[in-house]
Amino acid sequence: MKNRWYKDAVVYQIYPRSFCDSNGDGIGDIKGITSKIEYLKDLGINAVWLNPVYKSPNKDNGYDISDYRDIMDEFGTLDDFKEMLEKFHKNGIKVIMDLVVNHTSDQHKWFQESKKSKDNPYRDYYIWRKGRGKDGKKPPNNWTSRFMGPAWEYDEASGEFYMHLFAKGQPDLNWNNPKVRQEVADICNYWFDMGVDGFRCDVLTYISKPDDLPDGKFNLGLIGDEHFTIGPNYHKYIKELNEKSWSKYDSFIVAEAIGTGLKDAVALTDENNKELDSLFHFDLANVDAILQFIPKKVDLVKFKKIINDRQNLPATTWNSNYYENHDQPRSLPRLADGGDLMEAGKMLAVSLLMIKGTPFIYQGEELGMTNCAFKKEEMIDVMATQIMGMFHKISPLLDNWAYKVMLKRARDHARTPMQWNGRENGGFTTGKPWMVVNPNYTEINAEKEQSDENSLLNFYKKVIHFKLGNEIAINGNYIEYLKKNKNLFVFERRLENKSLFVICNFKNKDIKFTLPEEINYKNCELKISNNKDAGKLESCVLKPYETRIYELEY
Ligand code: GLC
Ligand code: CA
Repeated sequence: MKNRWYKDAVVYQIYPRSFCDSNGDGIGDIKGITSKIEYLKDLGINAVWLNPVYKSPNKDNGYDISDYRDIMDEFGTLDDFKEMLEKFHKNGIKVIMDLVVNHTSDQHKWFQESKKSKDNPYRDYYIWRKGRGKDGKKPPNNWTSRFMGPAWEYDEASGEFYMHLFAKGQPDLNWNNPKVRQEVADICNYWFDMGVDGFRCDVLTYISKPDDLPDGKFNLGLIGDEHFTIGPNYHKYIKELNEKSWSKYDSFIVAEAIGTGLKDAVALTDENNKELDSLFHFDLANVDAILQFIPKKVDLVKFKKIINDRQNLPATTWNSNYYENHDQPRSLPRLADGGDLMEAGKMLAVSLLMIKGTPFIYQGEELGMTNCAFKKEEMIDVMATQIMGMFHKISPLLDNWAYKVMLKRARDHARTPMQWNGRENGGFTTGKPWMVVNPNYTEINAEKEQSDENSLLNFYKKVIHFKLGNEIAINGNYIEYLKKNKNLFVFERRLENKSLFVICNFKNKDIKFTLPEEINYKNCELKISNNKDAGKLESCVLKPYETRIYELEY
């Protein structure tokens, strides 16, 4: 079968607010993105995913949408968007948008109508329920918001509560209403008809809630998940959406499969089910923490097992691989071990791009951008402020503790502006940036790395160039070696009598590599390495963070 296009894609994730500001208001925008298409083309990627650019009051940076068919004022106009789309396409780059349809903004006209009265035609677009207790002022059930606190907000006017699994400015849509499902299909078709190539579906696994909304069990500080993660009608609704919209276009649909595990992956993405093309799992997100918040060293054997399990799913599924996104702290030094982080970045790039699936690179990852040493008031994301605020309410004595915890996990780390050069604000804006720029922009920036042939950025270019169009990198079977080795990640991608053999030293020290006995190749060619002196494939001592890709013939 011919490959679908996304199987030979390297996707670059753009967080528009922090990418490039074209007009000096301190906020990244569409024209800013357009001005950097040359950079992206030079990097070699062939698809981008844009975090939400729709109209939004920005309670959750665009994940609260007030108009699905128009662009956020701060980002520009629909014409700016069309111009950007055309320019991306001219340069051979596909464009994937964010589809946020578990909830809308409370400013969306559907919600504004819905709030007006119980018999408004839009009432049933959202999930309204009577409260409990004598006065009806206790929430309808015990579910919690993902940002902490109850998942319900009381509305004085109608005396009922509405559900919000995220912030209270993000009311959940009622997917049990067929009109809502039709609206979603129409929104997808609207953007497809404009030329958009796919969607990354935000918290899609939460869309279906049982009508009776039973109380949930307490689970890692949150309540209710077991009722709304892949809820009762999830598959039915997604099949319907696939039929009414996605399957009509040559699109790529990847869902944020929040709350799901390995076992769910086949049901969610098997191509025979005609639902999603792929998903993002969270199994690697917490490998450096206990219960999200207590830091610990990465156990490489466990890390490799997570990857191996996913790589060995049936061939009718397709992986989407990432280390970073806008919700996670930066991967350096999270997944590295101190020392020369740029070399660690090269090794991570090889591991991410050479396993099977579509790799996603998050803006700045190709430069080795790091977490930021924020002051408390510099963390402005709704998750950080809500969690710190909640602990403050319990007791101001907890302030410092909550600050330290957020300093580890805050989503703000990924959202500091892109570091383009060593001039003011890292070249992101000529104005006052909407959030703090990481002061290490003087050291870590695109301009500096462009001119250094050994930089992480230039290494990324090599690996991306090597991967795209490479039949073995796309379709080769994944075979893992030295599974129990605590320092090395070694795997092969095999297609008939050829293969790519990949070695990654995850440690900041020399590590002995022993060639597995079963590797008896006829020919071997070193394709990529961050060690100039790397020789042919044989037992050897690898340098700190050394990585190699060989092409073998058997
Ligand atoms: C997803 C997004 C996150 C957002 C949330 C609510 O997890 O990635 O940024 O806050 O959904 O829409
Ligand atoms: Ca701007």
